[in-house]
Amino acid sequence: MNSSTTNPSPGDAVQSAWEAAYQRFETPEAEIRKFVVRLRELGADSWSRDAQVVEIFCGRGNGLHALAQLGFTRLEGVDYSPALLARYTGPAVCTVADCRALPFPDASRDILVVQGGLHHLLELPSDLNRSLDEVVRVLRPGGRFMVVEPWLTPFLRLVHGIAFFPPTRAVWGKLDALATMIEHERTTYEQWLGQPSVVLESLKSRFQVERCSMSWGKLRFVGRKAGA
Ligand SMILES: C[S@@+](CC[C@H](N)C(=O)[O-])C[C@H]1O[C@@H](n2cnc3c(N)ncnc32)[C@H](O)[C@@H]1O
Repeated sequence: MNSSTTNPSPGDAVQSAWEAAYQRFETPEAEIRKFVVRLRELGADSWSRDAQVVEIFCGRGNGLHALAQLGFTRLEGVDYSPALLARYTGPAVCTVADCRALPFPDASRDILVVQGGLHHLLELPSDLNRSLDEVVRVLRPGGRFMVVEPWLTPFLRLVHGIAFFPPTRAVWGKLDALATMIEHERTTYEQWLGQPSVVLESLKSRFQVERCSMSWGKLRFVGRKAGA
């Protein structure tokens, strides 16, 4: 693991509590299976296996395992949590860094991926725009950016209703872990869910849209950097 920043994560205690709930929410195997399905749905089977792929906000690296299972070999990950990155044991080169300042040269990577990271940013739209500007900077012309993030669809409203209903929460560990994660990230989570047009405008103004859908509580977006 590389380390390129010295003081990456605000609120370490809150972060630890969130990380503990995140690890209870889903086993690594289940998350990797979920990521493989998502990557396929979003077209990864047609991407070159030689592509240089970076997963930003990669956490414990389950998205990197999914990419490796699909045959991608030139993999890198970035996250500002040394604790989560330390749990990754695969072939990707991982760097501790803030995704608002990516540790890569301009136009040096083919594909960037984020799965559930942008909604952790503290300030919208400024941090989102900084992160997306970094993605554009680092991608080669024609490079792809794949995003999967929570989205306030009717399904997600239903999930919230069940997860915060004390009797279901008491008997369903996964829902309790989800509710705990949301409680610890409530400010950024609600800010993200509450500004859908800001998020879409930030994405669509920077990338040529290849895919964009919102269903089952998720935004799924694939865009390309202009200039291939
Ligand atoms: C839901 S997790 C992503 C999980 C990941 N997809 C996985 O496979 O484990 C969100 C991640 O974003 C990271 N994060 C939040 N803000 C960040 C920032 N500004 N720069 C880098 N990482 C950040 C957190 O440390 C956390 O690992």
